[in-house]
Amino acid sequence: MIPQSFIQDLLNRVDIVDVVERYVPLKRAGANFVACCPFHGEKTPSFTVSQTKQFYHCFGCGAHGTAIGFMIEYAGVGFIDAVKDLAQGAGMQMPEFKPEHPRGKTEEGDDLYAIMLKAAQYYRNQLKSAPRAIEYLKKRGLSGEIAREFGIGYAPDGWQNLQAEFPDYNAKALVAAGLVIQGDEGKRYDRFRDRVMFPIVDQRGNVIGFGGRVLDRGEPKYLNSPETPLFEKGRELYGLYQGRRAIREAGRVIVVEGYMDVVALAQAGIGYAVATLGTATTPTHVQKLLRQVDEVVFCFDGDDAGRRAAWRALENSLDQLADGKQLSFLFLPQGEDPDTYVRKLGKDAFEKLLGDAKPLSQFLIDELKSHVDLATGEGRAALLKEAKPLVMRISARFLGRIIRQNLAQVAGVSVQDLEREYGIKETRSVQAAPARSSATPVRGPARQVIELLMMRPELHTLANRRELDAARGVASIRPDEIALLDALLKIFGQSVGTRIGEYFRDTEFEHAVREIEACVLKRPEVEFEETALEEQFISSWRKLNAAIESDARESQLGILQQKLTQKQSLSPGEQAQYLALLQPQKSTSAP
Ligand code: GTP
Ligand code: MN
Repeated sequence: MIPQSFIQDLLNRVDIVDVVERYVPLKRAGANFVACCPFHGEKTPSFTVSQTKQFYHCFGCGAHGTAIGFMIEYAGVGFIDAVKDLAQGAGMQMPEFKPEHPRGKTEEGDDLYAIMLKAAQYYRNQLKSAPRAIEYLKKRGLSGEIAREFGIGYAPDGWQNLQAEFPDYNAKALVAAGLVIQGDEGKRYDRFRDRVMFPIVDQRGNVIGFGGRVLDRGEPKYLNSPETPLFEKGRELYGLYQGRRAIREAGRVIVVEGYMDVVALAQAGIGYAVATLGTATTPTHVQKLLRQVDEVVFCFDGDDAGRRAAWRALENSLDQLADGKQLSFLFLPQGEDPDTYVRKLGKDAFEKLLGDAKPLSQFLIDELKSHVDLATGEGRAALLKEAKPLVMRISARFLGRIIRQNLAQVAGVSVQDLEREYGIKETRSVQAAPARSSATPVRGPARQVIELLMMRPELHTLANRRELDAARGVASIRPDEIALLDALLKIFGQSVGTRIGEYFRDTEFEHAVREIEACVLKRPEVEFEETALEEQFISSWRKLNAAIESDARESQLGILQQKLTQKQSLSPGEQAQYLALLQPQKSTSAP
């Protein structure tokens, strides 16, 4: 890892305007620079570079990042190379840092990443002289272009073909990489023979494994790389690297079951699909995806196996749910998978289906309902019992509350009773907000404070981080916003010059920061009105604290009222507090 301090230093020395200008001519527009976006086709410029904020953003396709991010996206280089390149231009010496992938080295010092890359190149070359394999891919409707994009290759028939590419065929590293199998009598042979090869790449573009498909019939239909130091199936998603741009543009991602589904969808113009690698969807998968987008659609076959797989995906998503994120489930008609469906009916029909996907909140309740007989009290009780461990895992406040409300309604009990039985303390009602699209996020005071801080980090001096402690657990404030706000106050407390776009790379805040920076860029130029910004900040901070305070009051009031309804007596101190709490409050919100 390259130290964050070096990265911040670098970002303060290079100017993103110069970096972008090397590749894309920019025009000044007010405080910013604009151009036609190099990441998607357009005729009027929506690609904007902010010199003061040192990031770029495209209002058309959502491309967004720092100078480093631009190098990665535009020049197609890896993170380290992007930093090296910029550092060299700025005359900075790269610091010593531990290699990015110590796990990629074997004891003998062989680099597994290099071996996998070489194997992928070999398989790709072999495809060129394998008419049978080319014919197979054509028959499945793939163009040469898509095959190239996914690096599809062919492992020829024969036992030791890799020897041609790796003269030291006996090297342990080939076995460690999962390319060669060590037989019982010491004989070695290639794992993949006479198969179409799908390289599996990680998020940085390194080849870490392969899926190999038989051309005709044969068992197993797919042979996958074993787990190796590079390749852990429960963490990786096929197509995530190739689809990163389309995913961002679409603002959503589809999770399908097969390699061919991903490739066929991409061929049809739906580049935002990924596949699990023959395993169930794991919490890590969901977390990885929600870091990049707000909307995930799981797509399964309509049969029993598909429903079971969907349920597993639901179970593994519950911990990751957050207000503002949307997970849903799409079941294809019997006998279809995304590949066959999109080839038969095309892109528009498939995207239309996506629109009908069932939201997780509904799928959860529908499935639970289908297991019991709602006409009987016993059935409804069983429903509540079965739902409890699932519902208890949802930490998203609004969504959790809404699901509990729906569940209570189906079971014919009040939500207060349900929550009490489940041992959920807080029984005050959270207003179920009307459904909103993610395009219009709720802007509470916490969010306003965050935006103002991002506009003007110096404002951090007007806030007190300790006051935020009380905000955790406040119903009306999103915990993710409080966590981000807390992190920002801490970072800016150390240095107001911190470029948070890079600071939060690969963290839970990456996506939120991208979105908020885009909002900041859209806000009218108020830079020169220093005092106005300060006033706004102070007022938002007050509102945030008022929300925290009123929440504390209400919960104390709730406790006392509960005592009264349970006919417990209040101590004199409690009585005084109760009366005080009942007094109408002065309005704290600004006119
Ligand atoms: P096509 O027949 O090529 O269209 O396959 P598919 O992508 O429709 O695959 P299917 O729905 O049969 O399986 C989905 C995924 O499960 C595949 O992409 C593989 O990752 C995995 N898979 C399928 N068959 C096998 C198998 O025989 N062995 C292993 N290990 N994995 C398999
Ligand atoms: Mn298929």
